[in-house]
Amino acid sequence: MRFSTIGLAALPLIVAATQQESPIDQFKNQAQYYANKFQSYIPNPSKSFTVDSAHAAAAKAGGKTLSILRLGDWRDIITSSVKPTRTTPEEWWVLVSGGNKTCFGHCGNVETAFNETAALFAANPTAPHLAYLNCENEPVLCNSWGVGPPTLWIMHVAAPPAPVDIHGVYLNATTTTVKTFTDLHSTESWKETPLYEGIFHPFNGPLAQYGLNVPLGYVLWVFAVVPSWLFMIGISFISRNIM
Ligand SMILES: *[C@@H]1O[C@H](CO)[C@@H](O)[C@H](O)[C@H]1NC(C)=O
Ligand SMILES: *[C@@H]1O[C@H](CO)[C@@H](O)[C@H](O)[C@H]1NC(C)=O
Ligand SMILES: *[C@@H]1O[C@H](CO)[C@@H](O)[C@H](O)[C@H]1NC(C)=O
Repeated sequence: MRFSTIGLAALPLIVAATQQESPIDQFKNQAQYYANKFQSYIPNPSKSFTVDSAHAAAAKAGGKTLSILRLGDWRDIITSSVKPTRTTPEEWWVLVSGGNKTCFGHCGNVETAFNETAALFAANPTAPHLAYLNCENEPVLCNSWGVGPPTLWIMHVAAPPAPVDIHGVYLNATTTTVKTFTDLHSTESWKETPLYEGIFHPFNGPLAQYGLNVPLGYVLWVFAVVPSWLFMIGISFISRNIM
């Protein structure tokens, strides 16, 4: 075994510097530090990232603005709708969609129905805010939310510290039509679906509170795209360098 002498010499300094903080803060800072470091090494797999951000954020779908969610700005898009003076939460409908790899090419029907619904909702003042998340373009964001297509996430977002309620509605890829969405809105039957309470919850979950769901999203993405033989080479390379 070889140890880095510089690393060992620096250890007491780090310990001294962190002694003032509570263990939970230490953990939080360390997690944040490694999360930032980790992200700086990884290429951004977000494909919709290159699109001109001023125009991509709000694509007009026949009238009602359909926001396109991306890893870098989904939180701003959703929380910017919340006015601190309003007590009722803002309702967001996020269509989680995908393409050939993430939805086996079956999401086109659901997407068309959702886009046509957006046009209908344009004239409806009670309609929710609409957003679109494509897991083919945003694999890390989908992984960090623990969600896959075709799903509709209905969020109720109020000013913090109010928790954000999320109901996940499973959409049948073959039978979903515009009526599915308009019925969902008028009957509010989505309220019967259980609240999303997983550790991947993007607002209230423990991973989100420690800023860990995006790094974990990257890890899951790397596992999904890197073939296993490459992992074996990587592991043997690392172990040979440590031993
Ligand atoms: C998805 O698959 C279909 C049929 O295999 C093909 O025609 C289409 O070009 C593919 N789309 C993309 C974006 O790769
Ligand atoms: C639905 O709208 C989104 C956002 O504008 C777009 O990316 C997607 O291609 C549209 N899908 C269909 C099937 O029209
Ligand atoms: C979607 O609906 C059709 C028709 O009701 C049904 O046959 C099919 O099994 C459903 N698909 C899933 C995945 O539930």
